[in-house]
Amino acid sequence: MADTKRATAVLISGRGSNLAALIAAAKDVRYPARIALVASDNPAAPGLAIARDAGIATAAIDRGALPTKAAFEAKLDAALREAGTDLVCLTGFMLLLSEKFVAAWQDKILNIHPSLLPLFPGLDTHRRALAAGVRVHGATVHFVRADVDSGPIVAQAAVPVLPHDTEEALAARVLKVEHRLFPLALKLVAGGRARIVEERVVIEGEKVAPDATLLSPSD
Ligand code: GRF
Repeated sequence: MADTKRATAVLISGRGSNLAALIAAAKDVRYPARIALVASDNPAAPGLAIARDAGIATAAIDRGALPTKAAFEAKLDAALREAGTDLVCLTGFMLLLSEKFVAAWQDKILNIHPSLLPLFPGLDTHRRALAAGVRVHGATVHFVRADVDSGPIVAQAAVPVLPHDTEEALAARVLKVEHRLFPLALKLVAGGRARIVEERVVIEGEKVAPDATLLSPSD
């Protein structure tokens, strides 16, 4: 049988827990994506070992050893093409990709961000959510555009912010839903069910709850 799974590269800079979730999801024969490559700008990224243990090809492209971001992106681009990459997932990838790179991979790059975008783009999202006093926080998977943490939203997951939450407790609660969210979003995109229409994502056959869920501390 021909391999109809979309060849997917995962880009990491560190831990790789979302990578592990994607690898686990892709083991299902019915999952529409396979992880063809794991690439990192940081050769010391612990997530690279997760990829190696799973028998997945890795590319460690040391950004610090290269003179420019363009030089890094040229190597990354070559590694992605060599692996036959069709889709790219950014999971904790800390470099901001250039407009040129994003244009070359237009509508093929997905990123996971630990907030309910467009709230809290950038770093320290959990600290900022606590400081803002929001009652609901979460994570977003979106198509990547050149501006940081922007682009059409594929999927979001919300978690409550609890009284006396610490940054660490909130981060752990969000991370847990990230591990379900990115596999779901990649499934929708790789399976051809998520389309971009006028810079918003339309999902074929989407089932949604008809009303919003209200979170109340007394419920
Ligand atoms: C996640 O919280 C992700 O949302 C953010 O960076 C973190 C990466 O964690 N972009 P991991 O490397 O997947 O464990």
